[in-house]
Amino acid sequence: MKIGILGSGPVGLTLGKGLIQTGHHVTIGTRNPSRESLQQWIKRQGKQAAAGTFRQAAEFGELIIICTSWIGTKKAIEAAGIWNFKHKPVVDVTNPLDGKGPDEHGRLTFVIGHNNSAGEQIQAWLPPDASVVKALSCIGHQHMLQPNFKDGSPTMFIAGNNSEAKQLVINLLHEFGWNDIADMGTIEMSRSIEPLSILWTAYGYLNDSSGHAFKLLRE
Ligand SMILES: NC(=O)c1ccc[n+]([C@@H]2O[C@H](COP(=O)([O-])OP(=O)(O)OC[C@H]3O[C@@H](n4cnc5c(N)ncnc54)[C@H](OP(=O)(O)O)[C@@H]3O)[C@@H](O)[C@H]2O)c1
Repeated sequence: MKIGILGSGPVGLTLGKGLIQTGHHVTIGTRNPSRESLQQWIKRQGKQAAAGTFRQAAEFGELIIICTSWIGTKKAIEAAGIWNFKHKPVVDVTNPLDGKGPDEHGRLTFVIGHNNSAGEQIQAWLPPDASVVKALSCIGHQHMLQPNFKDGSPTMFIAGNNSEAKQLVINLLHEFGWNDIADMGTIEMSRSIEPLSILWTAYGYLNDSSGHAFKLLRE
């Protein structure tokens, strides 16, 4: 599949690598496609990888993954051209952080929440026939691929309005090695999924860890 990734940070490059390893073709979208470190990354990934502007990545993708900092997300979508999202599945990995990093207790701060979420906001910014699926927001990029932990297999929580788009994302998650995926319902459930990133970061801060994840236990 042709996949456009908006974002060249740790998440964008991790997911790009995973998608290429599982046979997909990827264009990474960024404000600066000629950046030396990115060009070297492209070279290492081989022919299935390219870098382009946000618009080129969105044009390229049959599926688009959004992994920009929250502060830059609306600008990146506008630069991508909202018409390029029409009729497409869109994976939203963002968390609506204020960009200031954790406080002295390891707590991150959201700029929206409780009665809105990044997932809903992105769905509202895009054409109505773009199908946003919240996924991969509650795990550090270090464990987005092959998430194996000594305590077992973690759960990935997803949400979105379109069941076909969610099935496509579930298939991609399976390719990445996720075997426990909890579909929490419509995109509004992003309000409950996104705050898990605050809990994840605080646990990491208090325990000097990036090697932890959430698991839903069932009877
Ligand atoms: N890091 C993690 O482990 C992790 C885990 C789960 C979810 N997330 C979420 O995933 C998203 C990406 O995280 P990240 O750690 O990979 O990187 P990040 O530093 O949060 O974001 C990097 C990306 O945001 C873009 N960006 C920043 N300011 C911008 C602006 N003003 N206009 C347009 N684009 C702008 C950058 O564009 P350029 O390429 O042009 O510089 C870059 O592609 C975030 O929303 C984060 O909360 C992160």
